Amino acid sequence: MRIQLQSWLLFIPFLAIFAINMVLVSGQCQSDQQSLLLQLKSSLKFDVNQSVHMVKWSQNTDCCNWSGIVCDVGGLVTGLNLSFESISGGIENSTGLFGLQYLQRLNLAFNSFNATQIPSRLANLTNLTYLNLSTAGFAGQIPVEISSMTRLVTLDLSTLSLLGSALLKLENPNLKELVQDLKELRELYLDGVNISAQGSEWCKALSSSLPNLQVLSLSSCFLSGPVHSSLADLHSLSVIHLDQNNLSSPVPDFMSGFSNLTSLRLSFCELTGVFPEKIFQVQTLETLDLSNNRLLEGSLPDLPENISLRTLMLPDTNFSGTLPDSIGNVKKLSRIELPRCNFSGPIPTSMSKLTELVYLDLSDNNFTGQIPSDDSDLQSSGRCGRLDCTV
Ligand SMILES: *[C@@H]1O[C@H](CO)[C@@H](O)[C@H](O)[C@H]1NC(C)=O
Ligand SMILES: *[C@@H]1O[C@H](CO)[C@@H](O)[C@H](O)[C@H]1NC(C)=O
Ligand SMILES: *[C@@H]1O[C@H](CO)[C@@H](O)[C@H](O)[C@H]1NC(C)=O
Ligand SMILES: *[C@@H]1O[C@H](CO)[C@@H](O)[C@H](O)[C@H]1NC(C)=O
Ligand SMILES: *[C@@H]1O[C@H](CO)[C@@H](O)[C@H](O)[C@H]1NC(C)=O
Ligand SMILES: *[C@@H]1O[C@H](CO)[C@@H](O)[C@H](O)[C@H]1NC(C)=O
Ligand SMILES: *[C@@H]1O[C@H](CO)[C@@H](O)[C@H](O)[C@H]1NC(C)=O
Ligand SMILES: *[C@@H]1O[C@H](CO)[C@@H](O)[C@H](O)[C@H]1NC(C)=O
Ligand SMILES: *[C@@H]1O[C@H](CO)[C@@H](O)[C@H](O)[C@H]1NC(C)=O
Ligand SMILES: *[C@@H]1O[C@H](CO)[C@@H](O)[C@H](O)[C@H]1NC(C)=O
Ligand SMILES: *[C@@H]1O[C@H](CO)[C@@H](O)[C@H](O)[C@H]1NC(C)=O
Ligand SMILES: *[C@@H]1O[C@H](CO)[C@@H](O)[C@H](O)[C@H]1NC(C)=O
Repeated sequence: MRIQLQSWLLFIPFLAIFAINMVLVSGQCQSDQQSLLLQLKSSLKFDVNQSVHMVKWSQNTDCCNWSGIVCDVGGLVTGLNLSFESISGGIENSTGLFGLQYLQRLNLAFNSFNATQIPSRLANLTNLTYLNLSTAGFAGQIPVEISSMTRLVTLDLSTLSLLGSALLKLENPNLKELVQDLKELRELYLDGVNISAQGSEWCKALSSSLPNLQVLSLSSCFLSGPVHSSLADLHSLSVIHLDQNNLSSPVPDFMSGFSNLTSLRLSFCELTGVFPEKIFQVQTLETLDLSNNRLLEGSLPDLPENISLRTLMLPDTNFSGTLPDSIGNVKKLSRIELPRCNFSGPIPTSMSKLTELVYLDLSDNNFTGQIPSDDSDLQSSGRCGRLDCTV
């Protein structure tokens, strides 16, 4: 968010009131909340040398002022951030954790739960709107109880995939059963979870249940294509990450209809057919990554001046044709990666207008001419000036 100086000045009185509130907030921890947190700390197995939050919790200070804790004005714990605490166990039977009934945000990301199941009792925390278990080390079937957490707005169960073997899976319940009552969900991250579903199945599961979905991140989920037309009903989608699923199908035209789309990632998806040119005209699109889809054809159309494109990645695709002169008008472009495609023709001189450009790779195409640069010394010495570039 960018706020101009003038509007900041208007905010100052509000900030002052807010700051006073903040002071009042701390120092009000309710004693039962404090003892639940201490119980939680003593039940968890964690490495005190790695912990940055829990290790500092001590009886003598107010728990609302503890690191990793957020309280409401009444001194009830509403937020708990225990990510990167190297916790390895002791959560299943933690009366401390499951007693924190006012919790709205829980982050247990990046721990080492050593391939145990996600505790089904998390669903007893019925006030949770934010649950983040990303790369926490949990494995096995995602428990059905999660599907009853109807206030969830953000659910992150993603894992950095380990050598292609999925740790978590959605079989019973499947994706549809998991999300069918999660009507408030706006952000869903299941990267690395074995969903193993056909295009019509996973698309319908999402579109029939999650009308407000903005972020859909399902990389490496063993999804197949084609992407079903029902996905077009999710009008608010802003992030679509489906990398590393064998879709073996074309990119559907309807993706150009997502008017708030900012990031589309479809690398390693075995895409076929011709990439819809209209997607380049989506004004909000900042990131387009179609890398490593050898069979995907396409070309760069005339690019409108007002688009937001920053990152364009098309390596190892079958994109061809020439680069349009209008590429020089896409002022925000900072990264252009087009190696190993079938582009040809001159490199547009208009590219020297791209002042944000920091990375350019045009190698292994049939381009002619030189990278235009404002800096003629560097140009003549065969380098690319401020650019990190390859031709
Ligand atoms: C909260 O903790 C900070 C240091 O972590 C300390 O400076 C501050 O006085 C504490 N506030 C209260 C109300 O305990
Ligand atoms: C923590 O560090 C101390 C001192 O370096 C060491 O003696 C202890 O074994 C470490 N504990 C763990 C769990 O690594
Ligand atoms: C949660 O804790 C981690 C690790 O200390 C920190 O990097 C992160 O910024 C915290 N998140 C929030 C929302 O405070
Ligand atoms: C949790 O409690 C149940 C019932 O008391 C017990 O069977 C189970 O082994 C406990 N789990 C752990 C990890 O201690
Ligand atoms: C959820 O929080 C509200 C207050 O924000 C509280 O009244 C309610 O009891 C909480 N729900 C549960 C199950 O504790
Ligand atoms: C989950 O937590 C990790 C670590 O704090 C963070 O990097 C990630 O962005 C979080 N996910 C969401 C959806 O907030
Ligand atoms: C992780 O689980 C394996 C197999 O159950 C066990 O042998 C190992 O000791 C566990 N590691 C930790 C740190 O708990
Ligand atoms: C958790 O919820 C289950 C039903 O969903 C209930 O049987 C159980 O008593 C609850 N446990 C706690 C500690 O609230
Ligand atoms: C993913 O799940 C499917 C169906 O349950 C199964 O056949 C497949 O072996 C699983 N793949 C991995 C890598 O776990
Ligand atoms: C797009 O975003 C704007 C601003 O956040 C919002 O007002 C609008 O409703 C969104 N459009 C859709 C289709 O979700
Ligand atoms: C992708 O799926 C297609 C059709 O099911 C199959 O023929 C192809 O071998 C798969 N490719 C990979 C890399 O798994
Ligand atoms: C480049 O052009 C030459 C000559 O026209 C052609 O033989 C070659 O296949 C082209 N290479 C690529 C990568 O398009």
